[in-house]
Amino acid sequence: MSAVPPEQPKPVPDVTQNLSDQAIDDPDALDKLARLKVKSLTAARGELVFPCIPSYKDRYLTQINALLVALGQNFTTKEKQALANIVGKHLEEGFAKSPYARLVFRYMPPTPTVGLTKGLNINVNSEVPSIEDKYQRWVDTREGSLFGSHADAKVIEVVESIAASDPAKCPIMDIGAGNGRNTFPLAKLGYPVDAIELAPVFVEQMQKIATAEGLNINVIEGNVLDPALKIRPAHYGLIFAAEVIPHFRHINQVELLLARMCDCLRSQGLLLFNLFLTSEGYEPTPMIRELSQVAWSFLVTPAELDAALQKLPLEIIANQSVYDYEKQHLPEKAWPPTNWFPSWSRGRDLFPTDRQPPVSLRWLLCRRT
Ligand SMILES: C[S@@+](CC[C@H](N)C(=O)[O-])C[C@H]1O[C@@H](n2cnc3c(N)ncnc32)[C@H](O)[C@@H]1O
Repeated sequence: MSAVPPEQPKPVPDVTQNLSDQAIDDPDALDKLARLKVKSLTAARGELVFPCIPSYKDRYLTQINALLVALGQNFTTKEKQALANIVGKHLEEGFAKSPYARLVFRYMPPTPTVGLTKGLNINVNSEVPSIEDKYQRWVDTREGSLFGSHADAKVIEVVESIAASDPAKCPIMDIGAGNGRNTFPLAKLGYPVDAIELAPVFVEQMQKIATAEGLNINVIEGNVLDPALKIRPAHYGLIFAAEVIPHFRHINQVELLLARMCDCLRSQGLLLFNLFLTSEGYEPTPMIRELSQVAWSFLVTPAELDAALQKLPLEIIANQSVYDYEKQHLPEKAWPPTNWFPSWSRGRDLFPTDRQPPVSLRWLLCRRT
């Protein structure tokens, strides 16, 4: 898409042709011509990158239009509409495919040597990394432990509460096990652990360590929500999902996960998960709900959680702040698990503030009745 602004002063005449003897010495007119000359020598190129959040379309367009005006490009109404359509299409399609999608708006001179009087070429596109791509990038670019050097204190407390006389007979499932920060300590206590994980990079890492250390860990690559992924019914004494639901996109997925896990638990088995719960009385707008997915903080309201749990044979045993619990119970040297954890778990990644927003990560512990 390219555009030449319609209301530009006439281009600098080709001085080799149609020369007139008519004098021009009006200072304002000369000043205007000088500015036009400078504009013809000024080039602009660059890009704006926006998260694909469909609700933010109008704000993005306002920013883009302001930039174009600042660069002396006055688009026609028709051109603005065409731009709005293509931006809207990329935002919708990108967001539908991945919450990590980005809209890329690029502008550049039509040819390398011309300035702003010749218009700008515009290119609108999207980049759509998957969750697997994102974690591969974490592994490639981040130093230190990605999710923490210790197991979650809550996971350990729940396992200790089971106090299985023979851990080998109490299988555990770790959903979205990541690089195995919880899986390995439990396997070392003698529990057989099935670790389901979406990202191949973590599957490979866990498999390598499990084999090298001879641990009873079955690493299963796949999406826990995929019906094709076979999970043994009525088998596990404990199933847990730590920091996984914040990746979800829709409450139906939470319902599906809880229902599946319920099927796989033994009678009296325990289900532990954490998720971002909104405070009572706060109703996130559609815009905030979309943003929460982009910010790795998918929001669930208490009413939505109640409705999801009501249909299932589960009783809630505990509902606790993850930040408070982990800060109090993790060994001092293991706190905070990562530098982003304190703000993320208190909803301050989603709403960048030093005050407490009406959302936070909660541990939910349930027993299958
Ligand atoms: C923030 S990490 C947490 C890893 C680990 N649970 C921990 O606490 O250290 C979330 C993990 O969940 C995995 N994950 C997200 N959605 C998943 C799904 N639908 N099925 C399986 N794994 C999933 C991601 O690939 C990632 O490894």
